[in-house]
Amino acid sequence: MSEIHVRGLRALQGEVLIQGSKNAVLPMMAAAVLHKGTTVLVNVPRIQDVFCMMGILEYIGCVCTLDQGILTINAQHIKENRLPSERVKRMRSSIILLGALVGRTGEAYTGYPGGCSIGKRPIDFHLKALEKLGVSIREEDGCLEAKADELKGGIIEFPFPSVGATENALLAAVVADGITEIRGAAMEPEIQSFCSFLESMGAKVKGQGTSCIKVEGVKSFHDTCFFVPGDRIVAGTYLAAAMAGKGQVRLKGVPACHLSAVIRELKNMGGDLEEEENGLILTMDRQILPADIVTGPYPDFPTDLQSPFLSLMCVADGISNMEETIFEGRFETAQELRKMGAVIEEKENKAAIKGKRALWGCHVAAPDLRGGAALIVAGLSAEGTTIVSGCRHIERGYEDICRDLQMLGAEVYRKV
Ligand code: UD1
Repeated sequence: MSEIHVRGLRALQGEVLIQGSKNAVLPMMAAAVLHKGTTVLVNVPRIQDVFCMMGILEYIGCVCTLDQGILTINAQHIKENRLPSERVKRMRSSIILLGALVGRTGEAYTGYPGGCSIGKRPIDFHLKALEKLGVSIREEDGCLEAKADELKGGIIEFPFPSVGATENALLAAVVADGITEIRGAAMEPEIQSFCSFLESMGAKVKGQGTSCIKVEGVKSFHDTCFFVPGDRIVAGTYLAAAMAGKGQVRLKGVPACHLSAVIRELKNMGGDLEEEENGLILTMDRQILPADIVTGPYPDFPTDLQSPFLSLMCVADGISNMEETIFEGRFETAQELRKMGAVIEEKENKAAIKGKRALWGCHVAAPDLRGGAALIVAGLSAEGTTIVSGCRHIERGYEDICRDLQMLGAEVYRKV
């Protein structure tokens, strides 16, 4: 199994182009199923979750090719409406194929989805939303059956702005007869770009970026070619790395406006940030200040960056606090950070972090996707070498974290 080795305490300097967004591209791939034709996505990252989604799409009958970041999906012939359980277990976002497949064929079967082990992650909002649009859901032996003779527009009210459930609702609503109103919708930039993508294939969507999205169903779609925006979470990870390692880095290919809450916290922690047209420059040349961060739905601080910032707080000058409000199981990284000398006290969904000048390198294991990346961030501010195992988690979402950090001058490399 491969490991990532990190040599710490080297200042970072340089620039890197940020890969396309994982959370933006996955629902677009699912939406391609709705169209009896070709969908082209540009700036697609070569990550395991994309490969897994491609595998599922191919299994149900799509023809997919990924070359130089251009993904072509032809969904002319869908021959299967049972999603392959082994792949579905590997990736939570496969659940959005339920909405897409019912929208396309009127029938879909799937097992319960998997993904990162970061808490309960139920799918009740997804199922209730589909039911509101006329889908009947049955569950038997851990398998879900979703059927609809006809999808009908309706009012969906989410008690919490779930990203995946909003996407699932959109996927069914764009082909439902009449108007659908999604209240309490997620407002993440990935939802906004997903709506723009749906519009580019002929869907009628209004209100994206607000908590109320209105959709008028259409009968068919047309071919489209869409550019996937840069990944704000990958960018946020590298910003945390640059803060921890100190130095000056320029990130290109990611809109700074998607990172407002992150930029605010980085400034609070002593970083200088300069926003550019499609990127930003971070300069950090002083001791890191402690911070109090609470994660929340967009536009609040993203839960996906909680772990990388936990690592950063471990080397801040004072006591920081982190409160996780989205996924209760996301402090697993703290256990690994403690092996590196971090002082973290957890109580329920809150952690108090007593910062110190440097951690020490040792062998740690990635608990999940973002937790794995966080351990690399920690390694950059540790004395000696940090060895991170469980890289398969990291590869789900980072195209090549070693290559990117090397571009910034870090000594990070993979050993098989
Ligand atoms: C998506 C992102 C993930 C990010 C998360 C929150 C993708 C592929 N993944 O995950 O990276 O961390 O948004 O920004 O886009 N919930 C329910 N019932 C449901 C659905 C969700 O109770 O049916 C709860 C969850 O347990 C969680 C909260 O709602 O507490 C938010 O989850 P959600 O936004 O759905 O996360 P994902 O879409 O799975």
